[in-house]
Amino acid sequence: MSSKNATERIAPDAAGIARAAEILRRDGVVAVPTETVYGLAARADREEAVARVFQAKGRPQFNPLIVHVGDVEQARRLARFDSRADALADQFWPGPLTQVLPRREDSQVAPSVSAGLPTLAVRVPAHPVMRALLGQCDFPLAAPSANRSETVSPTRPDHVLATLDGRIDAILDAGPCERGLESSIVALREEGGWDMLRPGPVGPDEVGAVLGQEPGLSHKRDGAHIEAPGQMLRHYAPGKPVRLNAVTGAGDEFFIGFGSVQGDISLSPGGDLVEAAARLYECLHRAKQAAEPRIAIAPIPDEGIGLAINDRLRRAAA
Ligand code: TXA
Ligand code: MG
Repeated sequence: MSSKNATERIAPDAAGIARAAEILRRDGVVAVPTETVYGLAARADREEAVARVFQAKGRPQFNPLIVHVGDVEQARRLARFDSRADALADQFWPGPLTQVLPRREDSQVAPSVSAGLPTLAVRVPAHPVMRALLGQCDFPLAAPSANRSETVSPTRPDHVLATLDGRIDAILDAGPCERGLESSIVALREEGGWDMLRPGPVGPDEVGAVLGQEPGLSHKRDGAHIEAPGQMLRHYAPGKPVRLNAVTGAGDEFFIGFGSVQGDISLSPGGDLVEAAARLYECLHRAKQAAEPRIAIAPIPDEGIGLAINDRLRRAAA
């Protein structure tokens, strides 16, 4: 399949899901809805298909992908689950939590998916259309966020097409994503302990409550430590200077408000962090398209999912 052809728009009904599954079966790449952000999916068991994902995104080969499966039984065929991993799967799957686990030697996943690492990132997504699609595929799906590398992540089909139209075979259009921020990534250490490699909708306190243990300190490491390159400092870039913690906007700034801080647009006028997370990338896409050459963003409380919002904002501002 040529990546230079027009990108096919597919409806999220039974016929559309079957069509998407057929394109994927033949090594194509399809943008798919999840509850977090749109993913750019390819069958994870075929190097040829996975290579197309890296190519379409312009993603460096050293940055590994998350593998999506329909249930924990399928995940067990790819990675080694201990009792802690089972407990996390029980509590949070299907849902916005990714686990980094030891890769099984007999795993069907192409080595490039995990960039040659001995570990594999796996998740069981909750979005009904994605779940129906996985049900039609007899292979796991590797899927990074469906945007060109280092650009703002996509929570709506038009965000996907803004950077990938004509570069991917199809998009399964199921409207906006509910959560709006990428999954939390937890690495369970074989020697014991765990780290939050990327903050997300599932908070460290919720994970800690299941594991009976606080996270380690890897999340405090700097961007030079590329264990989860989503943690690289330059990421989610809207292509304009971004000023954080602004209480008023200047004339040349597109101002994104929150709560009582009004702007040209607001993440959540009522100060609801869950709503702010769902709207964050949409607001950054709007800011990118605005006439103003700069972006200012109101302060976001560093609590609950605000931790993950501030993580993405710091990277957008870097
Ligand atoms: O919500 C999500 O997680 C979305 C949807 C599509 O599922 N996907 C997503 O993928 O955000 P991506 O590629 O944008 O981010 C994947 C992150 C990267 O930071 C990558 O470095 C990390 O997962 N990762 C993947 N495999 C890993 C591994 N074996 N060890 C450590 N980090 C890994
Ligand atoms: Mg991404």
